Amino acid sequence: MADERLITALDVPSISEAEDLVDAIGDVCEHYKIGLQLLPVGGMALAHALKSRDKKVFLDYKLHDIPATVEKATRSLASVDADLLTVHAEPPVMRAAVEGRAGSTLKLLGVTVLTAYDDAILAEIGYGMGARDLVLRRVEQALECGMDGVVASAQEAAEIRQRFGHDFMIVTPGIRPLGADAGDQKRVVTPKDALEAGSSHLVIGRPINQAENPRQAAESILQEMASTGH
Ligand code: C5P
Repeated sequence: MADERLITALDVPSISEAEDLVDAIGDVCEHYKIGLQLLPVGGMALAHALKSRDKKVFLDYKLHDIPATVEKATRSLASVDADLLTVHAEPPVMRAAVEGRAGSTLKLLGVTVLTAYDDAILAEIGYGMGARDLVLRRVEQALECGMDGVVASAQEAAEIRQRFGHDFMIVTPGIRPLGADAGDQKRVVTPKDALEAGSSHLVIGRPINQAENPRQAAESILQEMASTGH
């Protein structure tokens, strides 16, 4: 019944709340994202526990460091049998991560441009190009470096597919099922629209983890996904 394209973000403050959420969702979701909120308070132990329950684990570390450190960190993370890992989509970082995961089944995703950054912030940081151009440049570089895919919004997904084809993952956050509250996300799309735009995987947080009945929320998202024919 589960669909590995649906990734529930375990954005809760403690491991026990994350475990309760996974229990509540049960067999409806098999793929979980553990991010910076949980990683310092036992997130890796949770990753082990989820793997022993046959779940898929997406470690959202967003690594960004000197190549030697990224390579060694990726090697450590590959050894715990995680399924997905994010690194910033800068070529030296990505090449190091690809070296570090050699011999493992870990898949690597490049974070192209954080969605909290607009053209003005990129100029403030010192980039000479806007967000759209930088996203496309980094997707191209990610594919050249041997990455498995990128994290990108649904708005970006359509253009990325048009330019670079379908042979890699596009993992998309900022998804809201019909009628759901957008929260602080500025640009939200429905699961159906994201899949139609070319997203291969959907990362969904609050619509599931804040729902009164998380299992039911995940189930109705799965139904919406199944109805697209993608
Ligand atoms: O609650 P919501 O569905 O907005 O959660 C989306 C998840 O995706 C969060 O874990 C958030 O950190 C993550 N994310 C995002 N936008 C990005 C990258 C990651 O919302 N560009």
